[in-house]
Amino acid sequence: MRPTFKLALPAQQFLTEYWQKKPLVMRQVASGLDHPDADTLSGLSLESDVDSRLITGHGDGPWNLQHGPFDENDFRVLPRENWTLLVQSVDCFLTEVSMLLDHFSFLPAWRLEDIMISYASRGGSVGPHFDRYDVFLMQAKGQRRWKIGDHCNPHTPLQENDQLKLINNMKVRDEYVLSPGDVLYLPPGVAHWGIAEDSDCITWSVGFRAPSPVDILGRLADQAAESGGDTLFTDPDRTVPSDAASLQPADIEALTRQAFRALTPDIQRRALAELLSEPSCPSGLDFDVDHDHIAAASPDALLVRHGATRLILDDQGDAWLNGNHWPLTEAAKPLIRLLAGQRLYTEAELQPVTHDDGQDLLDEWIEAGYFAYLDFSTDE
Ligand code: SIN
Ligand code: CO
Repeated sequence: MRPTFKLALPAQQFLTEYWQKKPLVMRQVASGLDHPDADTLSGLSLESDVDSRLITGHGDGPWNLQHGPFDENDFRVLPRENWTLLVQSVDCFLTEVSMLLDHFSFLPAWRLEDIMISYASRGGSVGPHFDRYDVFLMQAKGQRRWKIGDHCNPHTPLQENDQLKLINNMKVRDEYVLSPGDVLYLPPGVAHWGIAEDSDCITWSVGFRAPSPVDILGRLADQAAESGGDTLFTDPDRTVPSDAASLQPADIEALTRQAFRALTPDIQRRALAELLSEPSCPSGLDFDVDHDHIAAASPDALLVRHGATRLILDDQGDAWLNGNHWPLTEAAKPLIRLLAGQRLYTEAELQPVTHDDGQDLLDEWIEAGYFAYLDFSTDE
């Protein structure tokens, strides 16, 4: 079963009333979250290119954080209760997990970041905290109790354990128990504390990309430098300064204005499309993890986008794939639009939009591992 999710209310109503504003619990809105299981997750956390953490602790602590990659012995010595394994960007490594992201088209694709999956024993949690980005917390297995607190800010008092950034004396305003298929949406900054009620509790977290102004400015500057703009500051309307020794606000304003004027729409488009099409995992273009499903020759095989392939289109209709620009011919655009709009493609969808240029490009992308044929027939 492939993972699915449907908002419990019309998309625009969700965006207007909840997105970035307040938490929302939705009951029985997700399904097909039964893979990966605990063994697959712990297996991933042994890999050197997978970002994983083990957190032990409960109540008032003490808390302990270890970073992966782990070895099997790390799991053998764990206590029976009160620990959580968290694996980052599972969508990059398990293509089937990335299919869930097709159900988030009520937001632009560039806004999605990754799917983290946690596996907890009874009592396991990461402690009371807040995240800086929006998150959909989807219960896949077992039950988790969520305590929800207030909106936090950089001055919210934290506990001593600065590695985990846990909130001191979190005030609980609401409490919900989520069962498989239930989803909790949290905007950035809302205090939360999710505690596993069962010994086998799996939670998926769909996180969002929110580049900081500093990141964006850095990329704009890099792109401006690459585009070779070498105009210099000009001041033909200069008047005699009252104080020649000081840098005046009017000059600061003129210098900044001229710098921003150098950022042409083309530079802005390139800088942002490059930044926003970079995948959340540094590597991961490796279909081995999906090995059971690779079956290019099978009649049941479907074309899929690899979970680590991030593909967005810019306003010129050009493609940006994992940070690289692919200018497109008009003939290739309908196919690439289909590829960018979803992650799984039937022959009936592909056939009408696939022409020479598009086919050549798709063949190149299959060769590079960005797309592949997977056989899902074995688990449906
Ligand atoms: C978890 O899955 O245990 C924690 C996720 C979160 O609180 O952000
Ligand atoms: Co959190």
